[in-house]
Amino acid sequence: MLLLDGKIASAAVKEELKQQVQQLLENGKRAPHLAAILVGNNGASETYVASKVKNCEETGFRSTLIRFDADIDESVLLAKISELNLDPSVDGILVQLPLPGQISEQKVIEAIDPAKDVDGFHPVNVGKLVQGLPSFVSATPYGIMLMLAYYKIETKGKHAVVIGRSNIVGRPMSILLSSNLPQGNCTVTLCHSHTPNLKELCLQADIVVAALGRPGFVSADMVKDGAVIIDVGITRVTDPTAKKGFRIKGDVAFEEVAAKAAAITPVPGGVGLMTIAGLLKNTMQAYQQNNN
Ligand code: GUN
Repeated sequence: MLLLDGKIASAAVKEELKQQVQQLLENGKRAPHLAAILVGNNGASETYVASKVKNCEETGFRSTLIRFDADIDESVLLAKISELNLDPSVDGILVQLPLPGQISEQKVIEAIDPAKDVDGFHPVNVGKLVQGLPSFVSATPYGIMLMLAYYKIETKGKHAVVIGRSNIVGRPMSILLSSNLPQGNCTVTLCHSHTPNLKELCLQADIVVAALGRPGFVSADMVKDGAVIIDVGITRVTDPTAKKGFRIKGDVAFEEVAAKAAAITPVPGGVGLMTIAGLLKNTMQAYQQNNN
């Protein structure tokens, strides 16, 4: 069984980016710049954004964290996005989701200049992805593609089952895996809460991507011997023995599934780290495309 280690694969991506930044600086250019917006203080969002900022620093990128109180008016956030859209020193803009109820996530996503949309959530970028055109790809599915590439996982002609149809992970993942890309060319089945025969479909899968947000959902009796298992779950479960009072659990029952799998991602230490690698790659791409 091959452990698909996010620490190792993301370190390789980050090292390459770091060298690119060093080269830029040696040539008298500035570093890529990510602006991240955090509204309120949702615990998980705080952690993710802090990690994004830290990874920017480690790679030599500039980052700016902009914070707003949870009760701000939508117009305040939209005005800040307009300002960042026009700021030539900012390459990538990221608004951490979820947002408080008074703010329309869709309006916010559509307010970001598609050329700075390093999350790949803007309909223009999603549309380009569907058409197989160069675009910003949502960081988690992008990171998974980078992971598959790093470990040279053969995907051509394979049957991939993606569980979960979210705009951020499941749907773009299904499009990437079915695209004519080095880590694509799969036949893809996209499953969701109304799929009646999920277990039978999973048993046919050469590659399973679990992105439904239900801890331990994928059990050993759902996967065939030799399958490649990608676990996108990152649910916080209460654990009084843990330092912070919770643990992060994936969507896959790791021990029992690992015993059957050819390759599997751990949680934590798997896909989560690749998401950051995907975001950094997107930020470098935005920098390069925006006339730097
Ligand atoms: N919330 C959960 N995942 C993501 C992500 O990839 N980007 C942003 N902006 N918010 C998220």
